[in-house]
Amino acid sequence: MLRISPSLLAADFGALAEAVGAVASETDWLHVDIMDAHFVPNLTIGPPVVESLRRHTGVFFDCHLMMTNPGDYLEAFRKAGANGCTVHVEVGDTSELLAEARKLGLHAGLALNPETPYEAIDPFLDQADLILVMTVHPGFGGQSFIAEMVPKIARVRQELDRRGSPADLEVDGGIDVETAPIVVRAGARVLVAGSAVFGMPRPWEAARQIQEAGEAALPGGGPH
Ligand code: DX5
Ligand code: ZN
Repeated sequence: MLRISPSLLAADFGALAEAVGAVASETDWLHVDIMDAHFVPNLTIGPPVVESLRRHTGVFFDCHLMMTNPGDYLEAFRKAGANGCTVHVEVGDTSELLAEARKLGLHAGLALNPETPYEAIDPFLDQADLILVMTVHPGFGGQSFIAEMVPKIARVRQELDRRGSPADLEVDGGIDVETAPIVVRAGARVLVAGSAVFGMPRPWEAARQIQEAGEAALPGGGPH
């Protein structure tokens, strides 16, 4: 099974509820990029916006916390209506953060930046419900896919399978109809796409095309 998680970062922030509606026919996940102007040089949204969006949709909010102190906000995001919260391994306290996320009833995700090697997340694989491999440097949408990340995606897939882990393997950054098949072949099963969805005139159609391109690369050629 393959899932698209459209990133709201590329949507019109003045019309977020409409953006959610624009892809509702194609997916039940939505990627919400939380940036704190410290872990990354950009500032986006916080719990009040998540809470407002929650009133408009029942989709799974896949919140990506690009924050130095995510532990201070996990509960606030949960209360605001987040379903999953993904923290970065680079900020430390990983075991504590993942345990806290699970205790709050969140799908607990662990992300790693392009320059961070697989080995950094290896000790925590069993404590996470989702592993997020960044395929761009976090902070901004619209960047080019870093192809050198493909072996790292494959390594995570291999380790999850070896341990019989049901954790999701998500990729984020530069995903479009061209790169989706590449990451799916490497083992990714949740594809975040921002500009390739919300930067298009018909976001639902763009999401469907990425989904189809990815499904064709699944073992056995997808559901068709
Ligand atoms: C980057 C964010 C991504 C971003 C991806 O820091 O984590 O989720 O929205 O955007 P695209 O798909 O345009 O690379
Ligand atoms: Zn993201």
